[in-house]
Amino acid sequence: MGLKFSLPTVHHELLEIALLAIELGATELTNRFRQRIQIQSKGLANFVTEADLAAEKVILETLIARLPNHRFLSEESQQTQVVQAEHLWIIDPLDGTSNFMHGIPHFAISIAYYRNQSPELGLVYNPITEDLYLSIAGQGSWYGPRKQYVDTAQNLSESMICCGFYYDRGRMMQTTLETLASFFHQNIHGIRRFGAAALDLCNVGCGQYGVFFEYKLHPWDFAAGMLFVHEAGGRCTDCSGNPLPLLQPSSLCATNGQLHEEALRVIHPHWANLNASAW
Ligand code: IPD
Ligand code: CA
Ligand code: CA
Repeated sequence: MGLKFSLPTVHHELLEIALLAIELGATELTNRFRQRIQIQSKGLANFVTEADLAAEKVILETLIARLPNHRFLSEESQQTQVVQAEHLWIIDPLDGTSNFMHGIPHFAISIAYYRNQSPELGLVYNPITEDLYLSIAGQGSWYGPRKQYVDTAQNLSESMICCGFYYDRGRMMQTTLETLASFFHQNIHGIRRFGAAALDLCNVGCGQYGVFFEYKLHPWDFAAGMLFVHEAGGRCTDCSGNPLPLLQPSSLCATNGQLHEEALRVIHPHWANLNASAW
């Protein structure tokens, strides 16, 4: 098929189709990236929505044409009643919308394939840097052709922490800030907020962050990245330590595994406090 990606020697029957969808979606995004001057009359939000929809359209068309019996949960055209699907794809055609909007080259397409409610394949691709993060259940996680493993840190004081802020500007934002202060009190190396949850999760899998947390994410934000973390040896739960849901929004805590309990001890009191109040 002549795809341009640099890949490890692995096999999954749907990998090539998924890569083709990613490649076509990526072209829609790169063609529009930093083009807002020419189309300013349409407004910034419309311009981003148009990029988002164009990428989603080509990704879905590519997959549906080849896999007519599969089901799809994609951010812009959400489908209901996909719970029982034997073959389910969960797609974010543009993760990191705000970065895209401001010309910051840190965003990604995220595609996950689930078989009978179990994740099998995850791809996260930044079309600007051409970074491809691939994970296959039971086989591992790769950044380009190189296999990836989580950080070996045993304590928060040896770790870089990453967080996300949901679009909320009220209690949830305030609670996230308070949680960050608590992390700083654990003498961590630092905090980063890069603005694309799918990439944040892959960076946990690659050992850059010991912990990533966010108080609300959607399945399309975390479906592929969660598999990447697991396959790299890490752990992903909600902020109470429960398994992540397949199809509902959730809080999320991803770590290298060793730091999970310590991270939840910092996060959970804030999370419980947030849930106890109306937001
Ligand atoms: C967002 C990004 C961001 C996270 C938000 C997400 P979007 O996804 O992943 O990092 O903080 O909660 O909604 O809207 O750019 O697809
Ligand atoms: Ca997203
Ligand atoms: Ca999105």
